[in-house]
Amino acid sequence: MANLSIFKKATPEALDALKEELRVRKATKFILLFSMGSQFDHLIVQRLAKLGVYALVADPSSVKADDVKKANPAGIMLSGGPASVHDEPPPFDKKIFDLGIPLLGVCLGYQQWAKHIGAKVAPGKAREFGVHTLTLKKKDPLFKGVPSRSPVLQTHGDIIFPSKKLDVLGATDHSPVAAGRHKHLWGVQFHPEVTDTKFGEQMYANFCYNICNIKDPFPAHSVAKRKIEELKKTIGNGNVLIALSGGSDSSVVAHLLKRAMKGSGGKLIGVYIRGIDRPDDEAYVRKYFGKQKWIHVEVADATLQFLQALAGKTRMRDKRLAMRGVYKEILERRIADYDAQFIAQGTLYTDLRESGMGHATGARIAEIKVHHNTGIEFSVPELRPLEDMVKDSARDIGRDIGVPEDLLLRHPFPGPGLVVRIEGEVTADSLRIARTIDGIYIDELRKAKLYNTVWQAGAVVTRSEHTVSKGDDAGLGVVVALWAVWSVNGFTARSADLPHDFLDKVARRIANEVREVGAVVYRISDKPPATIEWG
Ligand code: XMP
Repeated sequence: MANLSIFKKATPEALDALKEELRVRKATKFILLFSMGSQFDHLIVQRLAKLGVYALVADPSSVKADDVKKANPAGIMLSGGPASVHDEPPPFDKKIFDLGIPLLGVCLGYQQWAKHIGAKVAPGKAREFGVHTLTLKKKDPLFKGVPSRSPVLQTHGDIIFPSKKLDVLGATDHSPVAAGRHKHLWGVQFHPEVTDTKFGEQMYANFCYNICNIKDPFPAHSVAKRKIEELKKTIGNGNVLIALSGGSDSSVVAHLLKRAMKGSGGKLIGVYIRGIDRPDDEAYVRKYFGKQKWIHVEVADATLQFLQALAGKTRMRDKRLAMRGVYKEILERRIADYDAQFIAQGTLYTDLRESGMGHATGARIAEIKVHHNTGIEFSVPELRPLEDMVKDSARDIGRDIGVPEDLLLRHPFPGPGLVVRIEGEVTADSLRIARTIDGIYIDELRKAKLYNTVWQAGAVVTRSEHTVSKGDDAGLGVVVALWAVWSVNGFTARSADLPHDFLDKVARRIANEVREVGAVVYRISDKPPATIEWG
């Protein structure tokens, strides 16, 4: 995968590349980050980049202690991962723990060194998912400037038990050594890289600046400029097809292409696929791209194709795959029609990661869901300039290059559209209901000026039925589930605390305007453990 260079062995070529990377960044020190398969690896790289610290991602299955010595990092980090220390732990050379280089293990990374020094790691009384309070127990440079009690995000089943060899730095309700230290080894059971861990950035700054002594942060440079240059070089005078959804990611990519293709003679074609879209998506595409000279927009109505492909399918994974098939077919036809040499997609790092892709290391990555725009083999090369970005950084790039704020602030469009908001079979009727309830919900969010206070909101047609009494008559009606989340980049999310009055109003409108609805409920789960979308 482009843009994500992985350290696999200390070959002369790899060491030269590292030297060059540091020269360009005007840095002399760096962190070696062993990717153990966590959803959050890329966030660690981003957090460190924000601190001006370069993190080189390392493959735990091939990098041995000798390779680490040759690369000579100022510090080592081990991320979390879906495995446990007892079951399918990622391969890792334990001698690396004994090199004396400052090391910070996060979640699974912490459990791995704790087990290595002889501490007990076993399932705790309760699994901890979500935000918990960390209480600091001892002064340590890792927690300089962090209050004695602060919120942290945990996602683990195993815990580390107290041991003579471990200094207890902090604890949560169910995790007696939620933060621990053994000589040059530090460990935290929680995730400092997510914004839910309020002082996470401070902890990483402490580790890099004070513990690893990295004092030469590299200057930030314009990411957008670099991406435009890269696209220009790749595209030459070719034609590019882009699937537009009216959401922020594809809009940002379209604007990057606008700049990269200016004066090249190549054509930029935008395709909007109608069929499983939300009520106002098409209007956004028409408004912002329809009448522009630099892009030709075609609206492809694929309603029937989607319905045919989805008929009889009830499992979410099957529906996602069926949707992806139609998506590919429509785009392939346009690639041929317009003689396009490239197809551009707004795929984010989050999408790749949740589809079980990402940094190509040997650690197992959990496939959470098959994203609509990942893993499709197109007949022409794909351009994915945002594949190393998450939502908030992609929006920042958009701001840099003048994408209208109205587009940037739209709630993310889930690639499979309303398919992921319908339980059971997707039919013309369930699509109509999903579209109507979404329209009502979003309309009310905008009217109440709540739209921009939440990160994303959705309305789901569930398979549950609820008894309804309508006058003298009784019957069954479908249960609609509403959700809304607060998030920064979609990696984690909290259920948004919407006012009851507001929910009441939405529920009444839905019941009055959609005769099939029996009841409306509101989802209060966070991510993790739930995902943002229902399916
Ligand atoms: P989840 O549900 O995985 O969603 O917590 C994280 C974010 O991704 C969106 N989403 C998708 N986006 N293709 C996409 O481009 C997909 O297949 C897909 N599935 C979920 C979701 O709406 C949320 O913003």
